[in-house]
Amino acid sequence: MKDGEAKAAPEDAAARAARLIALLEHHGRRYHVLDDPEISDAEYDALFMELLGLEEQYPVLRSPHSPTLRVGGEILESLPSRAHSLPMYSLDNVFSLGEGREYVRKLLRLLPDVDESSLSFWMEPKMDGLAMELIYERGIFVRALTRGDGLTGEEVTGNMRTVRNVPLRLSGSVPDLVEVRGEVLISRKDFAALNARQEQSGGKLFANPRNAAAGSVRQLDSSVAARRPLRFLAYGTGRVEGAKAWSTQQELMFWIRDLGFEIAPKAGLCLSFAALEQWWNSLVTARDSFPFELDGAVAKINSLALQEKLGFTSRAPRFAVAFKFAAPRARAKLLDISLQVGRTGALTPVANLSPVNVGGVVVRRATLHNEDEIRAKDLRIGDTVLVQRAGDVIPEVVAALPELRDGTEKVFIFPAHCPECGGGVFREKGESAVRCLNRACPAVLRESVKHFVSKAGLDIQGWGGKLAEQLLRAKLLSSPADIFALKDEDLLGLERQGEKSVANLRAALEDTRRNCTLPRLISALGIRHVGEETAKALAGEFGSLDALSAADVEALCRVRDVGPEVAASIRDFFLAEGNRRLLEDLRGQGVWPEARAMSVSEPEREMPRQMLLPFSPDTEKKGDMAEEKSGKAGASPLYGKTILFTGALSALSRSEASRLAEKAGAGVLSGVSARLDYLVVGDSPGSKLRKAEALGVGVLNEEEFLRMVNAPVAPEKA
Ligand code: IVH
Repeated sequence: MKDGEAKAAPEDAAARAARLIALLEHHGRRYHVLDDPEISDAEYDALFMELLGLEEQYPVLRSPHSPTLRVGGEILESLPSRAHSLPMYSLDNVFSLGEGREYVRKLLRLLPDVDESSLSFWMEPKMDGLAMELIYERGIFVRALTRGDGLTGEEVTGNMRTVRNVPLRLSGSVPDLVEVRGEVLISRKDFAALNARQEQSGGKLFANPRNAAAGSVRQLDSSVAARRPLRFLAYGTGRVEGAKAWSTQQELMFWIRDLGFEIAPKAGLCLSFAALEQWWNSLVTARDSFPFELDGAVAKINSLALQEKLGFTSRAPRFAVAFKFAAPRARAKLLDISLQVGRTGALTPVANLSPVNVGGVVVRRATLHNEDEIRAKDLRIGDTVLVQRAGDVIPEVVAALPELRDGTEKVFIFPAHCPECGGGVFREKGESAVRCLNRACPAVLRESVKHFVSKAGLDIQGWGGKLAEQLLRAKLLSSPADIFALKDEDLLGLERQGEKSVANLRAALEDTRRNCTLPRLISALGIRHVGEETAKALAGEFGSLDALSAADVEALCRVRDVGPEVAASIRDFFLAEGNRRLLEDLRGQGVWPEARAMSVSEPEREMPRQMLLPFSPDTEKKGDMAEEKSGKAGASPLYGKTILFTGALSALSRSEASRLAEKAGAGVLSGVSARLDYLVVGDSPGSKLRKAEALGVGVLNEEEFLRMVNAPVAPEKA
């Protein structure tokens, strides 16, 4: 034998090696493609070791499709780029069956000779992995390219050779050349095991199966890829030479399967759009129990002749469309449940999740809403859960997957104490929220201040949540109103605050003090159930914080969108001692929209309460409030007074009377107290009259009231 020449193998060794390759191919396919092994792992390993031994002894026997090559080993410096022989297109999306039907109508317009009844669709799950092209010359795997930009991909041949369900040699009717296209992915089960291994070895955890698959495919050391549980599922072809012609996508897919590839489970033919709808609905149901992650389905026109007629746009084929799930979902581990204390003291449970990519966004936390929700979904710490994101909505935990429990999961017990202040918590009857009862809870103050300065509140430029937290940490605030009392020295003492930024903060404060509108201020107070829209409606209706704070539930219920629950919440807010103090502090700081209107002629702080205009024409011009409230109200003797109605009125309903009183500038109260200026008495007044007399409250009959509000006196009833 000459130097360098490979040792010739005896005939029986060559025959045995060929036999071993065929056996390993067959059993590999039974195991990895068909999921139906015929021999044990140990028997497979014995065949594999025998082949490896022969190849070591006679290197000449090493063939390019030997299963021993699947262990990898080549190390690249970078992944070379290579052009695709035919572009790898993307897909257009539809997000509902309705949009899908519209897509079909559009196709039919492009195919005037085709009747809808003759259209059939090859349906496949849309796998959430990485697009890949595998190239076979005369049946032997020679190259793998990622999709790349669709025209040029990265060559990842060595890595794809390690993928156990990728045939290294094709079976069936083998063409001269075939480019098989499909998706590389990692199943959910394999992904969980991979991450568990990563965790054990102190490696980096993957955010989701897709990332793990993409990272594995692009490894420079193919032995690393070989240890990753990658799978390839075929969905079509690129260039094909030397094969028979098929007439449908279904036939093409069956041929691909016979070549030795795995195709997606549930792939099938639908003979009409109605059948497609059924197929889609059953996929939606099966979505979470699928062995791998899906992001929808792909519908392809079954007839290849029609596919050819329809062709491609610059981006995507016209003959195929992706039906996407409206809300992307992914699995994550529920690592822990923490509690967030809101500005109303409500303790909101929040799921801390293993980072997971849900529709392109990495999610680490998701709201669990309340205690009942955790119970109803039987969520346990340590569970694998489904996380969903619909549009811009906050991610939520859809359900736990109890079948994946291993017994270490723990039931979450809602604490009896606030996690921030240690104070007692309480759940009111009929309410879902558990609340911290400590009004001085630092979390409640922190969230109130953050809300107060936020966009939904006074929207003070430059005053974000971070600054609020700094101020609270420095113990400079004990109420949101305190920010208006801050001195420059206070702000300069904070980290990262220089003269210039303090000047800007100060300017923003002064601007807010002067220009804040009533709806903004109401919204900034953070009254439960009162958002920006309701705040506008309340400002429009009451015209001043004095009138709003004096309004009873009945009067509040007359406001658009305000029902008994919201009205009660507003009432409770204004009755709370701490909130009254807050209002007085704001008034004292000149943050009092209607007071400003008077400051043209009088210093606002000295103005007696009854003199405050219920509505400022200034703010009206800003367009936030209803026309109805005009400065005219100042003419009424009821202006700035408090009033209450009792007994049956004859000319007016109670709500009409309240509206008139408010229009005249009075605040309508819900009970008799020393704060009450007038009790208007109708027929059969009850205990209210007695109480009012005892307190020396002024009593009016209906006629006197009507005169005071300048309304025409009702004619005597016949
Ligand atoms: S067919 C000509 N079928 O979706 C377009 N694509 O959003 C060929 N995908 O890049 C695509 N499952 O990687 C097709 N059953 C399936 C698929 C599928 C997943 C991927 C594919 C493509 C992406 C487009």
